[in-house]
Amino acid sequence: MKSLAVQSKDDTKISNIKLMNIDEPVISDDEILIKVHAVGLNPVDYKLVEQHNKAWNYPHILGLDAAGEIIKVGTNSKNLKIGQRVFFHSDLSKDGVFAEYAKAKYNTVAHIPDNVTYEEAASILCSGLTAYQAIYRKVSLSGKKNILIHAGAGGVGTIAIQLAKIAGLTVITTVSEFKKDIVKSLGADYVIDYHNENVTDRINEITNGDGVDIIINDIGNPEEDLARLAYNGALICILETPDLTNYNLSSKGQSVSSLNLGGVHQSNYQNQLNDLSVMAEALAKLISENKLDPVITKRIKFKDIPKGLEELINHKTIGKIVATI
Ligand SMILES: NC(=O)c1ccc[n+]([C@@H]2O[C@H](COP(=O)([O-])OP(=O)(O)OC[C@H]3O[C@@H](n4cnc5c(N)ncnc54)[C@H](OP(=O)(O)O)[C@@H]3O)[C@@H](O)[C@H]2O)c1
Repeated sequence: MKSLAVQSKDDTKISNIKLMNIDEPVISDDEILIKVHAVGLNPVDYKLVEQHNKAWNYPHILGLDAAGEIIKVGTNSKNLKIGQRVFFHSDLSKDGVFAEYAKAKYNTVAHIPDNVTYEEAASILCSGLTAYQAIYRKVSLSGKKNILIHAGAGGVGTIAIQLAKIAGLTVITTVSEFKKDIVKSLGADYVIDYHNENVTDRINEITNGDGVDIIINDIGNPEEDLARLAYNGALICILETPDLTNYNLSSKGQSVSSLNLGGVHQSNYQNQLNDLSVMAEALAKLISENKLDPVITKRIKFKDIPKGLEELINHKTIGKIVATI
């Protein structure tokens, strides 16, 4: 089958990604095989090219987010049937989804509603699930008033802004100047141009010095966010967690949590693996009800995926890039 892959452990540049002919995956009793129709592009795709996972065999097929049609089901894949439209976020330690066919564990797979396209479904996996998990799994929203979402125009940010508005929160977001309009159109209440404004000063101004209740940090330097947290505030770290050596979290009842979406595949904890499917179906339902815009700003051909990954590296993108097969 046609696949985008790296050939050896020395292939650590986007230019090393090659279109190859690789055997179709063979499924186990717990897996299903799909004919891939659309895939989503994410920063993790280029990060994995730069730093391969130790468990990979070569050639290794790239890509984590896929939507397609079931063409084979393992004997344990009880409620799934050939012909159903499904989508899933796959395991980064295994062969990926930038291919004509891909396999998935049956309990991580979610159904695509009839009025949601394969492209829309593929676009809300890694980034959408991360935004969903941050807002609906990592913190209690009760008693919370506002949220700071960094990188509001990115894949995670565009979905997080909309979910936070649905949850009734006041949204403050940080972006580059040219990305201001899109985050305003998604409902952001306060937009900070982080290149030209002091983010902490602006937060103090907006919150009258109280700080924010929830912060989603998907940009790094989480220590800077500690000073922006309100009493009982919660910091959700999507990249690294802060060094707390010189910071007393308990003096203001604050909390810090880490989010590692795909790591659940390596944990093999079935309850949390199932939750990938539960969260994906919740996001797809919001799209089908016109309550969530997946913010697909670019649709590309399969062979152009490496170019799309270059755009992600250069921070040129807004929302999501999807590729169709
Ligand atoms: N832990 C996990 O499970 C998990 C899951 C999903 C994503 N992630 C990670 O989360 C990050 C965001 O993912 P994504 O899909 O949203 O990426 P994305 O679509 O590429 O968006 C990232 C955006 O962040 C902005 N940015 C960079 N530095 C910033 C700063 N200091 N302040 C504000 N904005 C800044 C850039 O836009 P500007 O032009 O405005 O600078 C960039 O386009 C990536 O590093 C990704 O790997 C982790």
